Amino acid sequence: MAKLWSGRFTKDTNKLVDEFTASISFDQKLANQDIEGSLAHVQMLGECGIITLDEAKTIQAGLQTILEKLEKGEVEFSVEHEDVHMNLEKLLIDEIGPVGGKLHTGRSRNDQVATDMHLYLRTKTKAIVELLEKVQSAIITQAKDNIKTILPGYTHLQRAQPVSFAHHLLAYFWMFERDKERLQDSLKRINILPLGAGALAGTTFPINRDRVAELLEFDDVYPNSMDAVSDRDFILEFLSIASILMVHLSRLSEEMVIWSSQEFQFIELDDSFCTGSSIMPQKKNPDVPELLRGKTGRVFGDLVGLLTVLKGLPLAYNKDLQEDKEGMFDTADTLEGSLTLLAPMLETMTVNDMKMRSAVTQDYSNATDIADYLATKGMPFRQAHEVIGKIVIYAIEKEKYLLDLDMDEYKSFSALFEEDVFDYLEPEHVVGARKSKGGTAAEQIEQQLELAEGKL
Ligand code: ARG
Repeated sequence: MAKLWSGRFTKDTNKLVDEFTASISFDQKLANQDIEGSLAHVQMLGECGIITLDEAKTIQAGLQTILEKLEKGEVEFSVEHEDVHMNLEKLLIDEIGPVGGKLHTGRSRNDQVATDMHLYLRTKTKAIVELLEKVQSAIITQAKDNIKTILPGYTHLQRAQPVSFAHHLLAYFWMFERDKERLQDSLKRINILPLGAGALAGTTFPINRDRVAELLEFDDVYPNSMDAVSDRDFILEFLSIASILMVHLSRLSEEMVIWSSQEFQFIELDDSFCTGSSIMPQKKNPDVPELLRGKTGRVFGDLVGLLTVLKGLPLAYNKDLQEDKEGMFDTADTLEGSLTLLAPMLETMTVNDMKMRSAVTQDYSNATDIADYLATKGMPFRQAHEVIGKIVIYAIEKEKYLLDLDMDEYKSFSALFEEDVFDYLEPEHVVGARKSKGGTAAEQIEQQLELAEGKL
């Protein structure tokens, strides 16, 4: 099978080289984008008189036919034609004859492949933003149902201060909001057109890059042809944003695993989102959040992989750049898969508010509140902290919680204690008293929810 570039060669390529250098097995994912770019390119070639308008129409019709065949699964790609670009060009020439060979006028695979990747990431970035919003809505739904649900808030995974479960969940809303902002911002840099840069230096043909940008709905064209063909920052950026997003997903997943354990029993994941054990009949495993947590590894790997590929590459195109694709596809698929599952898993989980509430009554997480109580009565906070520390040691020795101590016991630590201390110690009071902006008190959560809903 003759290669599209066989002119300069006197021997066939070694089969192993064909297999080693080919990217068609994975870059066929870009077939639609490649055709989209070609349609715009050929339109411009026709309009600029570089080829005739008739030739442009014939080529466009041929590309449309291939597009239809692709959709019907009637296209066969071959390793001999190395990548999606040359496969499609070969198919076009087979379809419409030698005029198909005019498609590649004034362009190179280098600006072509970069354009395909920009088009691909633009679509994926927008799709991921939409999926993130579904997750955010699911969080809001659960939060609205759980403003009054109280559970221990943790620091160092030690019970710290009770919080509303809505407040805890909404923390993730804001993480995902930042991820969304980063993705949306990255669109500015994705939406720049490389096509027209040629192999690296531009082209001798009187092309109109701005027209192609307009046809493909790019905001601008790369101002430097060498940068255009070798820039992969937009992919690095996507992988970085994705990595941060996966950190958030992974942290939330970890909490879901912990909360659904026998030890916590704070939530129960819906049966449809869990799996069983092949040997232990009693098991109901949180495989989905575990896998979401685990998939973080491959996304970080994709980022580090591409950083490593790019480091030290001289300008402009190098074949190493072909290694930019699989990681990008993998990360996009991973994010789509993960976010698609997360939303319904969050929506269908059962919140065990009794378990959460009773956890709060069996700890010392209200200790700060009696320190604040003494501080409000004039004792310096540092001193109050010391006094309450002593009360906690005393209570632990007596195997009691702070609410179980009586007035005489409190008085023996400070004369400032009065009957109202017991109200201060109730979990509802402890949570409700944190009315500072962004705090866990119900009225603050209501405001937070309003802000959150405004973001969707
Ligand atoms: N398959 C190649 C890639 O993905 C396309 C660009 C090839 N360019 C070249 N000069 N060999 O990077």
